[in-house]
Amino acid sequence: MSTLLQTIAEENGDVVILDQTKLPDEAVYVRLKTLSDAAHAIRVMQVRGAPLIGVTAAYGVALGLEEGKPLDEILAQLSATRPTAVNLHWALKRMRRVLENSAPAQRQRRAWEEARAIADEDREANAAIGRHGLVVLEAIVERKGAVSVMTHCNAGWLATVAYGTALAPIYAAHAAALAVHVWVSETRPRNQGRLTAWELAQSQVPHTFIADNAAGLLMMQGKVDVVIVGADRIAANGDTANKVGTYLKALAASAHHVPFYVAAPLSTIDFACPDGAQIPIEERAAEEFGELHTPVVNPAFDITPAQLITGIITERGIVAPGELAKVRP
Ligand code: MRU
Repeated sequence: MSTLLQTIAEENGDVVILDQTKLPDEAVYVRLKTLSDAAHAIRVMQVRGAPLIGVTAAYGVALGLEEGKPLDEILAQLSATRPTAVNLHWALKRMRRVLENSAPAQRQRRAWEEARAIADEDREANAAIGRHGLVVLEAIVERKGAVSVMTHCNAGWLATVAYGTALAPIYAAHAAALAVHVWVSETRPRNQGRLTAWELAQSQVPHTFIADNAAGLLMMQGKVDVVIVGADRIAANGDTANKVGTYLKALAASAHHVPFYVAAPLSTIDFACPDGAQIPIEERAAEEFGELHTPVVNPAFDITPAQLITGIITERGIVAPGELAKVRP
């Protein structure tokens, strides 16, 4: 990962974020001073990616307490920003638990400490995901001499505090001098694939950009050894919500016997949600398609059924989607 750029950091009592709506054209930092700044940054996707949304929300709680806002109001405002990534709700629940158990005079300090802890844990979890996922890539390189990975959306360090989830094993493989190449799908309508291509270029990881609809052909032609994607919410049965288009890649991977992995920290697993049908799917504005004078439906995520997933790469190891209980905290 780039050593110069960071997705989120504390600075003099504010929170500074890298504005992802300006990438890859410009690296612009934005200072979040208030709860509303944090909620806005999540809603308009200045920060995005499930783990980073969770960390930003945790810092948003600290900013709200600095403004003297009631905790319930803070949590309600942040929780209404984006519905699908469960890391948001996981982080807010964790903040509530810690703050309700703190003396009122300690709350502001405790909020900053807990937000920092959530950020630090994300970095460590993703490093571990990288180590576990590396084993999958090493096995392919041993057999074939090189590995070609397909990914979708951006589940790299931009979507987290560091390393990324789906890209963590790729960075680990590149650091280990394995011959790794990445197929980066554009990810319409918001083009998060451009963020992935930018990230990979920063680290000199060989990659090729493709239109979303090229994925099936490349798999049919045997040009993809493995698919690794991130997740926004994994239900208890292993059904996985991720950026819209993930399901089609999983269907194509299954048809062509390409292994399909989901990489995510435990904070993305919603054990209270029995299956994918219960996961709320965010519907975003028609404007994301540009100016179209026609009816539009714009679901931001889709559900990949557990039976299409080869394994889930977590910080506690790789498990089959039906065996998530094995890694339950
Ligand atoms: O709408 P986005 O850009 O926040 O969606 C991001 C994704 O779908 C990612 O794949 C997911 O959050 C995992 S990020 C490590």
